[in-house]
Parts: sequence; structure tokens; C-alpha cells
Amino acid sequence: MNNFASSFKNKFLILGCGFTGSFFAKTIREFGCTVLTSARSQKKDPNSFIFNSESGEVPNKKIFDGVTHILSCIPPGKNGNDPVLESLKDQLKNLSLEWVGYLSTTGVYGNTKGDWVSEINQPNPSQQRSFKRLSCEKEWIESGLPVQIFRLPGIYGPGRSTFEAIRNQKIRVISKKDQVFSRIHVADIANAIIYLLQNKDSLDFHQIINIADDEPCSQMEVIQYCYDLLGLKMPKPILFEDAKKELSPIAKSFWMENRRVSNKLLCETLGYKLIYKNYKIGLKNCFLDS
Ligand SMILES: NC(=O)c1ccc[n+]([C@@H]2O[C@H](COP(=O)([O-])OP(=O)(O)OC[C@H]3O[C@@H](n4cnc5c(N)ncnc54)[C@H](OP(=O)(O)O)[C@@H]3O)[C@@H](O)[C@H]2O)c1
Repeated sequence: MNNFASSFKNKFLILGCGFTGSFFAKTIREFGCTVLTSARSQKKDPNSFIFNSESGEVPNKKIFDGVTHILSCIPPGKNGNDPVLESLKDQLKNLSLEWVGYLSTTGVYGNTKGDWVSEINQPNPSQQRSFKRLSCEKEWIESGLPVQIFRLPGIYGPGRSTFEAIRNQKIRVISKKDQVFSRIHVADIANAIIYLLQNKDSLDFHQIINIADDEPCSQMEVIQYCYDLLGLKMPKPILFEDAKKELSPIAKSFWMENRRVSNKLLCETLGYKLIYKNYKIGLKNCFLDS
């Protein structure tokens, strides 16, 4: 860990410090890096600054002094443009950046009807938001910045998992034949990115990398496992055909796509070892952390 810290004269800006951004910030700080984080509203944290592309609030120039690494965790804006590039591209291009990370989604692959999908497959989005996402990926690639894109499936971790949905009584147990979802524990996002940065000089560079766990599976399996850990009885599943009438358009749209996201590039070719290989190990961590 010390070698990594000392090899870094790094200053990170985390743009969009929500769930994943906060976890990444906390983890990379443990390596001794300087980290500043953005939010749309004022936080008590002295390392936080305001960035809101919609209201036009952009960071003070001083924030960018000495920045070497940027991680953007901000989704596409309402207009479909990337909020960071729309507001800050010229500023970023004037920095001596070593690396820029962009968190994207595996939604860009569209519906593979349950088949595995990897980075070599052509994106085939079917939802409006995924078209926007693909267009933001393209903006980043064409920006000329040293960008690496991470395509993520459903993100979970302590404080945001099926346990919270059960506790908040927001759980709906839906059964849909052969439907699976891929997922990733937030700690593996942070640690995979740090692993790639740590080994940048010895690994081949890949501009687009999936970060997903080893075992896509049905949502019902995951919910059942959480109920078992809680020692509670899972409510009776509702068939998707019946449930869909009451689902929000966004919730319904997730059920319209069925894919297994491959992590072979990250875990086999590049050699990252997942901390949470599957939902059982990951959820046990969330359970013990709560
Ligand atoms: N959640 C998932 O399951 C999932 C799955 C795949 C990919 N992703 C993508 O991965 C990224 C990180 O996900 P997450 O769940 O950690 O995100 P999150 O918790 O929702 O955080 C998003 C951050 O972006 C900021 N933001 C949003 N719009 C902005 C704008 N117009 N200008 C400036 N800042 C803006 C938010 O600011 P505030 O802090 O002020 O709200 C927040 O800090 C996102 O791009 C997300 O779409 C998420």
C-alpha cells in the first residue's frame, strides 16, 4: 500500500460524489492521495466543493491546481450531454492529467436475452437513457483526455442493498422466467480501479472495461438470500406479467433487458481478484456492516 501511495504524487477530483464516488474517495485516501469531491449542494466536508452543471455552478479554478486524476461518477444530463464535458472540458484539457475514469453502465449493451456480453460486443442500447449513456462515452473518448471507461451493472454495498429495500418495505418479489441481472459490490468498483492504476505500467491499456461479479442471477434468489440472513419469511413472488402494471416506467425498463455481463477482461486478462465474487459474499458484508 505504501509503495502505491509513494508512487503517487496524486491529487484526485471525484466529480459526483454519491454512493460510488464516496466509496472510491474513502478508499483512495487510504493510499495517501489528496482527494477533493463534488456535490450539487454545500457539504460540511472541507474537501467537498460544489459542481452543478444544471445551475451552472462550476468549481473555482483553485480546485484544479495540481490535479492528476479525475473520476466522473455523474450520469448523462437531461439533455443527453455529459455534464462534466459540457461545463468543464476546456478546463480539464488545460491540466496535466495522468488519468480520467468515467463510470458508465452495462445498459449500453442492451438486451442479449440472457447471453453473456463482453467489451468486444458492439453496444446495442434499447432504452433512451442507454443511448444517452453511449453518446456520453463517445464524448469522453473523443475528448482527447486520457480516459478509461468502466461499464457497471447494478451497484450495491453497505447502506444500499436489498436489505434497505426490505427494511423500507419497498421490496417487490417478482418472478420472471430465465431473467437474470448482473451486479457489483461498490468495494470491487473502487478496488478494481485502484488495481488498474497501481499496475498501469505493466498491464495493457484497455479503454473500456466491465466491472461485474462472477454470478449473474435472478433477483428472486438475491431477495430470498437476504430474507434467510434476516431470519424472515420472504413474501410470495408475483409473476412479472401481473407485477408490471404497477411498476414505474424506469423499473419496468430494467426488466425488459436480460444479460450476463462478462468480467473476463478485468479478472482473467488483467488479473484483478474480486473481493465479492457473488451476491452471497457481498450481501453478507452488507448484512454485517448494517
Ligand atoms: N446505481 C447503479 O446501480 C448504477 C449502475 C450502473 C451504472 N451507474 C452509474 O454509475 C455512476 C455512479 O453511480 P452511483 O449510483 O454511485 O451514483 P449516485 O449515487 O447517484 O451519484 C451521482 C452523483 O452525480 C452527481 N450529479 C448528478 N447530476 C449532476 C449534475 N448535473 N451536475 C453535477 N453533479 C451531478 C450527484 O450529485 P449530488 O451528490 O448532489 O446528488 C451525485 O454526487 C452514475 O453515472 C450512475 O448512473 C449506476
